[in-house]
Amino acid sequence: MLLKETVVLKVSPDLSGEKDIESLQFAADIIKKGGLVAFPTETVYGLGANALDEKAVASIFTAKGRPQDNPLIVHVESAERISDYALTYDNKFFETLKDEMPAPLTVILPKRDIIPLCVTAGRKDVGMRVPLSKVARKLIELSGVPIAAPSANLSGKPSPTKASHVIEDMTGRADVIIDGGNSRVGLESTVLTLCKDTPEILRPGGFTKEMLERLIGKVNVADAVLEALKEGDEVASPGMKYKHYAPKCKVVLVRGQKDKISALLAQKLQNEKCAVICCDGQVDVKSQNVIFMGDEKSLETYAERLFDALRQTDTLLGIDTVYAVLPKDTDGICLAIYNRMLRAAAFNIIEA
Ligand code: TXA
Ligand code: MG
Repeated sequence: MLLKETVVLKVSPDLSGEKDIESLQFAADIIKKGGLVAFPTETVYGLGANALDEKAVASIFTAKGRPQDNPLIVHVESAERISDYALTYDNKFFETLKDEMPAPLTVILPKRDIIPLCVTAGRKDVGMRVPLSKVARKLIELSGVPIAAPSANLSGKPSPTKASHVIEDMTGRADVIIDGGNSRVGLESTVLTLCKDTPEILRPGGFTKEMLERLIGKVNVADAVLEALKEGDEVASPGMKYKHYAPKCKVVLVRGQKDKISALLAQKLQNEKCAVICCDGQVDVKSQNVIFMGDEKSLETYAERLFDALRQTDTLLGIDTVYAVLPKDTDGICLAIYNRMLRAAAFNIIEA
């Protein structure tokens, strides 16, 4: 692809900077003209284009090297806008969830004709999301159009949670990169289909199953969330079938009893060219190849740091493997951590 000149603009997350609106207006004008703008959200950075402009949408796929059959999420500035692009009429789950938006949540609903099929990769449904990030919502509002945006990483790489990640992947590919600080959730939104009798999580994220069930009752979790797809399996969310979130070296997941994990990791660090991703205090060995993920009890911090940690392993020289310790269970945000880690590791797990 032909490389572009990329402009990087800094804005403050709460839009308190003097030039913030001017910068976002510049970026919004680029969107209106069919260009590509990488922007911060509370989950991960997105690579956005006018969702109603087929040519602009096609250029997202080229810039990322994204497979054509993987649909994009459409971002709008408020929940009220969702029914302009999707059929929400009579959907009791949507009626409840719309009051929770903005949120790290994407709802799948039947699409209206105005959304081109290239956005949804030929599907009749569309993923709609109202990001919590003020910067993202202001950008959409100033653009005056819905913004189709996947995560702003090159396809296959960990999603970007810092502007530096986006600059690394999208310089020469996006017209504008908006630097709005670090993403606070750190994992992509929960993708929930509302097109079934019982809503189903296709991708777990910051809006947890427990939170959803308190609001709308029983919610299913798609098999593909924690299991590897078998040859020929149909997948509800095409993104699930690709190798994802992978750094350059091999990722191996470790689970088991705390003391056994510590002993195993110490041994690996001594005998192998490896790095370790674990919670504070899980390993006593002093090594610059240990990346700490915060307190074991605060797994939100683990989620926030995960993609950055995976990218950091690429900068450690001479490493062939990274051992990453999994949380103990799959409650709350841990379901999303498991889902991303299983994909980064291509389901390679050892028991300590
Ligand atoms: O947090 C997020 O969701 C970020 C930010 C930028 O909003 N976006 C994001 O987009 O993660 P992307 O394209 O990297 O992941 C979208 C996921 C993919 O797994 C895709 O297959 C699924 O959502 N998806 C999108 N539209 C869908 C649809 N109509 N039906 C089923 N799955 C869909
Ligand atoms: Mg992605």
